Amino acid sequence: MIYLDNAATTPMSSAAISAMTQVMQETYGNPSSIHSHGRQAGKLLREARQELAGLLGTKPQHIFFTSGGTESNNTAIIGYCLRHQNRGKHIITTAIEHHAVLEPIEYLVENFGFEVTILKPVNQEITAEQVKNALREDTILVSTMFANNETGTLLPIAEIGELLKNHSAVYHVDAVQAVGKLTILPEELGIDFLSASAHKFYGPKGVGFLYAATTDFDSYLHGGDQEQKKEQEQKTFLQ
Ligand SMILES: Cc1ncc(COP(=O)(O)O)c(C=O)c1O
Repeated sequence: MIYLDNAATTPMSSAAISAMTQVMQETYGNPSSIHSHGRQAGKLLREARQELAGLLGTKPQHIFFTSGGTESNNTAIIGYCLRHQNRGKHIITTAIEHHAVLEPIEYLVENFGFEVTILKPVNQEITAEQVKNALREDTILVSTMFANNETGTLLPIAEIGELLKNHSAVYHVDAVQAVGKLTILPEELGIDFLSASAHKFYGPKGVGFLYAATTDFDSYLHGGDQEQKKEQEQKTFLQ
């Protein structure tokens, strides 16, 4: 068989399989446990976060491990908008987004009175100019994908990031189809939140991450201390 559906999901690389097998067989401790098994797992987790942060040109505290792109998108969009709804309730996105972006936005519109402007591609392109024209004083979030999952079209991320430097809206980028294929430095590109998913670049299903420039967003998971206690008010680490 020749497998040609890598945009849907990739097979795991043998390096990822052997790293995971080793961890599952040998370093299976709870990384929060204080015994040596736990400490070993904690060390591996810190190293993984550090390595990933290095690839994105950022610091480890900006990386939040998630269960994949869907969770990363939901966390950034719902978590940021609910936390900041007092500042405004307008969101800008595009008609070519994945459902994991469109549906969390729809949830905010239907349940919390948000308004959304959905940009339609012109000649198969979304431009920064369209975002500029849609921006309002009460826009708090712009969410666009990096690369489209069906056509491979790249969006003008750097231009939109640059534009938003003069506006208080944050920029979320669904980079699920770009991470692992392109070098992406969120801080240089003016990105505030970036979603990624390991199964799109030869990693396992059920693992992803969210790059977040700030911890000033709500978590919809409650009851664990992992990932910087995102279920609690915790804004201090960047200060
Ligand atoms: C652009 C895009 N965003 C989000 C997702 C969802 O990612 P996951 O399968 O990790 O939840 C996908 C998966 O197809 C995608 O292509």
